[in-house]
Amino acid sequence: TFEIEIDSTGQILDVPPQKSILHVLRDNGIFPDSSCEEGICGTCATGLLSGTADHRDFVLTDEEKASQTVVMICCSRAGSRRLKLDL
Ligand code: FES
Repeated sequence: TFEIEIDSTGQILDVPPQKSILHVLRDNGIFPDSSCEEGICGTCATGLLSGTADHRDFVLTDEEKASQTVVMICCSRAGSRRLKLDL
């Protein structure tokens, strides 16, 4: 389990192991754009304001992954306790 913080509202939500960030957002009435939900299309790209993502997508380059400024919220996880998202 890790946490996500919604920058625009300050809301903090738990992401359990069996749920994606995208699903947790939907459960809370937030509906970001998405399509493949498998980490291949890039539609769900979301700005990462702080924290370290554990990138699981096939879209970002190694350099983009290392920059820790964007995360595919349909599939990626966290490598830190909390991810602050530009939502
Ligand atoms: Fe396609 Fe996330 S919805 S990469």
